[in-house]
Amino acid sequence: RPTDPSVFQNWRARYAVQRASPLVCPNQGLANELSILRRARELEGLEKNALAYERAIGMIKSYPHRITRESFKSDISKLPGFGGKTASKVLEYIETGSIPEAQTTLTSERYQSLSLFASIYGIGPTKARQFYDMGMRSIEDLERYYDVAPGATLKTPAELDEFMREMEAEVAFTPNGKRVRREGTVPDITVPVALALRGELDAPIPRDEVEEMRDVVMRELAELQPGCVSTIVGGYRRGKPMSNDADIVISHEDWEKGKTLIPGLCKRLCARLYQKGLVTHVMHLSGFHGYNALRTEHWDSLEKALTVFKLKPIPENPVRIHRRLDLIFALPESYWTAVIGWTGSKMFQRDLRLWAKQEKGMKFDSVALTRRHDTRRFLPKSEKEVFDILGLPWIDPTMRNA
Ligand code: CTP
Ligand code: MN
Ligand code: MN
Ligand code: MN
Repeated sequence: RPTDPSVFQNWRARYAVQRASPLVCPNQGLANELSILRRARELEGLEKNALAYERAIGMIKSYPHRITRESFKSDISKLPGFGGKTASKVLEYIETGSIPEAQTTLTSERYQSLSLFASIYGIGPTKARQFYDMGMRSIEDLERYYDVAPGATLKTPAELDEFMREMEAEVAFTPNGKRVRREGTVPDITVPVALALRGELDAPIPRDEVEEMRDVVMRELAELQPGCVSTIVGGYRRGKPMSNDADIVISHEDWEKGKTLIPGLCKRLCARLYQKGLVTHVMHLSGFHGYNALRTEHWDSLEKALTVFKLKPIPENPVRIHRRLDLIFALPESYWTAVIGWTGSKMFQRDLRLWAKQEKGMKFDSVALTRRHDTRRFLPKSEKEVFDILGLPWIDPTMRNA
């Protein structure tokens, strides 16, 4: 289904979900320079600032012409978010082909260390700043801190069994008998694993390998449970030639049977993939728990496994390396919202939620689409239906790179 033509004309629109955002835009160099500033603000914990840059970058990504002094004046300067500061950065770029502050940032020791630390999966800006403040600067400093030898294998089969048991033990019951999980009782292995496997997890994954990973996973899943369906989501679905990980949303073809067949399947698949030596580490595993009255009004009907995966060598491909693999299991009624939610981009998702809330009185998340005033839940049977219900023109996943 082609993208609704209106969204290509819609570059003035406020929400990213109303605009086409290609992977590479006519002003990609400018977008990249601004992204350095956005990242710097994010690493410093200046979230509002970072978001302002992210919005501006999103607008630029949708602008269909090369930005010149003239078009800056007639078009860009009139867009929301292009007041004083951002405007002056864009002007600097138009005049000189780069943004001086972005270039200085790139060479600063602080930025280099913070972005190096935060490039490790499981380390966010806050932890990165803590490490910097402790005087740490390099990956070797991190390895000493976590006591990790490069390339170390951190999870033996016995350790994984233990992990699975602890995950099980974490499931508790609320007074009204609903299952919930207590957070934070399992020791987090994410950073040590990511650090030990850094050289491999850093390598981008080509599209055909992402597909190969999906095929292997789905073949194993079919042995446990026939009739499952899947969509590769994330950057792959947005058309990226290389991905940092593989993200797969899984459900069952049968709307009714899926309700009972899907719960628990994520963990069973993980265990099977682990036994077969395909999943080597499980960073995080969550079941159908997570009812959190403060955060959401409905049951979290997604099961997630954030894992490390390694394909078996084959004659055409004798050397395989560890890859990050995210598996997301959704009940059939959550499948299409989960597919949209996990396709991204993050900016696209953020504006989808905002659009739903501010313009439609609805709540969108990866689990469900509901109407706010009476919490009526919609049951979309396709991705297009979600867009229709939200009153949005169809945007192909490859145009969701806001
Ligand atoms: N996402 C989410 N909830 C999470 C993590 C991710 O909803 N806990 C969504 C985000 O909208 C994100 C998408 O899933 O856009 C995929 O996340 P991720 O794999 O982190 O990023 P990608 O966009 O796939 O890019 P990359 O190639 O770097 O993996
Ligand atoms: Mn990180
Ligand atoms: Mn991804
Ligand atoms: Mn992911």
